[in-house]
Amino acid sequence: MAVLGRTLLLVSALMGLASAQTIRKNGQVVAADESTVAVAAENVNNELVLTDGVLAQLKSLELANVSLFDFPENLNSTYNDKRPLFTGCKTFPGDLLWPLQPVWKVFDLLTGGALIKTVPIGAVCYTNTDHYDADKCQEVLDHWTESATHADDPTSVMSPLFQGKTCMPQKGDNGTCELGGFPSYAINVSTVAQIQLAINFARNTNIRLVVKNTGHDFLGKSAGAGALSIWTHNLKAIEYIEHHSGCGYSGPAMKLGAGVEVGELYAAADKYGVAAVGGECKGVGVTGGYTQGGGHSPHSSIYGMGADQVLSVDIVLPNGRFITADKKHNTDIFWAVRGGGGSTFGVVTSMTVKVHPKTVYSGLTFYITTGNDSLANVTTPEFIAGLEAYWRRFPEYAAEGHYGYSSLYPRFDGQSGYTWEFHPWLAPGMNLTDFKKTLAPLLAEWKAVGFNVKPEFWEYDNFYEPWTSHFPTEAVANSDLRTGSRLIPAKNWEDPALLNQTIATLEDIMQTGALIMYNMVGKKQAGVDNAVHPVWRENLFYVIVGSSWTDDSTPAEIEEANKAITWNAGAKLRSISQGAGSYLNEADIAEPNFQQSFWGTNYDRLLSIKKQVDPWDTFWAPTAVGSEGWYITRQESWLETQNGRLCRK
Ligand SMILES: Cc1cc2nc3c(=O)[nH]c(=O)nc-3n(C[C@H](O)[C@H](O)[C@H](O)COP(=O)(O)OP(=O)(O)OC[C@H]3O[C@@H](n4cnc5c(N)ncnc54)[C@H](O)[C@@H]3O)c2cc1C
Ligand SMILES: *[C@@H]1O[C@H](CO)[C@@H](O)[C@H](O)[C@H]1NC(C)=O
Ligand SMILES: *[C@@H]1O[C@H](CO)[C@@H](O)[C@H](O)[C@H]1NC(C)=O
Ligand SMILES: *[C@@H]1O[C@H](CO)[C@@H](O)[C@H](O)[C@H]1NC(C)=O
Ligand SMILES: *[C@@H]1O[C@H](CO)[C@@H](O)[C@H](O)[C@H]1NC(C)=O
Ligand SMILES: *[C@@H]1O[C@H](CO)[C@@H](O)[C@H](O)[C@H]1NC(C)=O
Ligand SMILES: *[C@@H]1O[C@H](CO)[C@@H](O)[C@H](O)[C@H]1NC(C)=O
Ligand SMILES: *[C@@H]1O[C@H](CO)[C@@H](O)[C@H](O)[C@H]1NC(C)=O
Ligand SMILES: *[C@@H]1O[C@H](CO)[C@@H](O)[C@H](O)[C@H]1NC(C)=O
Repeated sequence: MAVLGRTLLLVSALMGLASAQTIRKNGQVVAADESTVAVAAENVNNELVLTDGVLAQLKSLELANVSLFDFPENLNSTYNDKRPLFTGCKTFPGDLLWPLQPVWKVFDLLTGGALIKTVPIGAVCYTNTDHYDADKCQEVLDHWTESATHADDPTSVMSPLFQGKTCMPQKGDNGTCELGGFPSYAINVSTVAQIQLAINFARNTNIRLVVKNTGHDFLGKSAGAGALSIWTHNLKAIEYIEHHSGCGYSGPAMKLGAGVEVGELYAAADKYGVAAVGGECKGVGVTGGYTQGGGHSPHSSIYGMGADQVLSVDIVLPNGRFITADKKHNTDIFWAVRGGGGSTFGVVTSMTVKVHPKTVYSGLTFYITTGNDSLANVTTPEFIAGLEAYWRRFPEYAAEGHYGYSSLYPRFDGQSGYTWEFHPWLAPGMNLTDFKKTLAPLLAEWKAVGFNVKPEFWEYDNFYEPWTSHFPTEAVANSDLRTGSRLIPAKNWEDPALLNQTIATLEDIMQTGALIMYNMVGKKQAGVDNAVHPVWRENLFYVIVGSSWTDDSTPAEIEEANKAITWNAGAKLRSISQGAGSYLNEADIAEPNFQQSFWGTNYDRLLSIKKQVDPWDTFWAPTAVGSEGWYITRQESWLETQNGRLCRK
């Protein structure tokens, strides 16, 4: 009793009693609620933002706790002297310093009711919770592998493994639903001001901050236990700029809100008669993790990376200030945010990107299987010969501007053999006659070695049609899968012995796991300098490897499958491409020496910019720039999830 009494006293002293907050209006002290507190925002250049003026007004009304939302320059030393309390871990729910309910209420009022307390997406399936709803549960289960299911939810992510799998809807009949690596609260953003309030609040209260757009991240970067999450998904504005000029570019451009997805961008570009650079999959967020992490595209071998298209960036910095960064203003941020990775330098609210004139596209798809049963199209030796003939020609196709996207996997039906599926091979700017001409030597060799493939060839006068007709819809939210990736540069083709070694390594890895293969280069664009790993400019083969298990696997098998990505397939790929790299957005979370792997020679400059703009470490994500100073408690040595407390090392 005594201990409890003292704890309560301390809590009250530190955070205020759990009574309603007040505001002084017309000389009267009244309750702070929707009728007395206006949303904290001011219209500046058609953007609702948080300004010193807005905060001063709230202070003059004596709104309780308003200093928790203030910019660092406006906080006096009394406040800043509290910072030494923040040297250990981020403040976690249940800690003495965790804001009490009335403080969250003020936050909700200032954001105009945008605060959402997290209910895990799977909770509706748990019979032992208040959220149980059989119909909604069935709906979640039916659409579980679709990206929109998770993008439309404030906190769901597409890599449940890294959330901790603590409320899987598939487990609803048994067990408990816990928050695990889901954030405690999310802000459903529709204005810049709400982002500023959230950043100031998280920084001033030492709470973990995460940013979630669609939740596609493969490493759990859009989740975090005990965090406040900024959910950018609903920032959907798209503006077409027919004649953009300035900063060394003159031509068509598009201004994209932070929530715009690849499919929405492509549809809009098609409507205006242009083509845009984005990923292959429709649900990925364009200006979120994709472009900030570099962004590879069906157009990369001609127009470069997603990050190479950016003309200007609107961003809220860790100090809560809203700025525009471009070639002339805030140039360090402009450089860093194009390739330096998401959730590191601030929250991007929109980007203006180049778009490209309409042109011709040709390409092919095929599906071929080996084995010694009736499903097989070719024998395994014929299959391997066909594959090698293709691999050896990579330099030529990347130089022609092509994008070769295919997967190779052991047969799913348990029979020995492999399947190779071409999602498409796309040749932007090339008509079918020229495409077939380019492929003629390969097709001849395939015929000669008995690789009996009959590809489907096609040609279109725009990008949107082949993209909607010949690209796959990808399943997401597999919780029993680890992936890693490697960028294999041109050097591996220049030395014949190294090329043979590269091929032997790929053939070794394909015995046990899938290879997702991209033949492309992140073509260097004249006059563009950004933080994208320089190895992309020499890349010929970007390969993703995967290792999976099942719900029936033993703990030892699960551990082995997880370790295999880092220490088996990963190690083999690193050994044939020393000094090259991996793609940070589709990487192994345990990638050794991730700083070199994800950014190469750009890392030191990125880290110094990070320290300068975010001395508080307001932003943190696993494997992000500057993340090495922190760790998450309660982890397996072979798997880091977001289900734990974030602490300084
Ligand atoms: C099915 C599938 C297909 C993919 N295809 C491609 C592809 O073709 N090419 C490619 O390059 N990549 C591809 N990716 C990888 C993809 O680029 C990354 O997962 C990327 O991080 C997704 O960004 P997001 O904003 O949609 O996702 P989220 O998971 O919401 O965010 C990713 C990261 O960015 C941060 N972030 C999001 N929005 C902001 C913002 N406004 N400001 C600051 N930080 C932000 C998040 O905190 C997180 O760290 C694919 C992934 C999947 C699952
Ligand atoms: C919030 O305001 C109350 C007064 O209403 C105060 O007692 C409390 O200390 C404040 N909390 C924080 C975290 O500043
Ligand atoms: C500093 O700020 C705190 C909290 O806002 C306030 O209580 C205090 O009076 C301020 N001190 C000075 C010297 O301005
Ligand atoms: C729940 O547990 C029971 C008995 O342990 C098992 O038979 C059943 O399949 C489980 N259900 C789910 C959805 O996992
Ligand atoms: C989020 O805000 C948008 C308005 O921007 C609203 O339409 C939507 O319903 C909100 N979503 C949730 C889950 O609150
Ligand atoms: C052919 O199939 C049999 C039975 O599935 C299998 O044992 C054998 O290894 C296969 N041979 C080849 C070359 O795939
Ligand atoms: C294909 O493109 C080439 C080069 O651009 C051109 O010479 C040729 O006429 C085109 N062929 C067809 C059938 O359009
Ligand atoms: C291989 O065989 C399957 C039928 O078993 C067929 O659908 C497929 O088109 C064939 N692939 C090729 C490349 O011929
Ligand atoms: C590479 O492999 C090819 C085909 O197996 C072989 O002909 C060639 O001699 C090898 N080259 C080297 C340098 O090992």
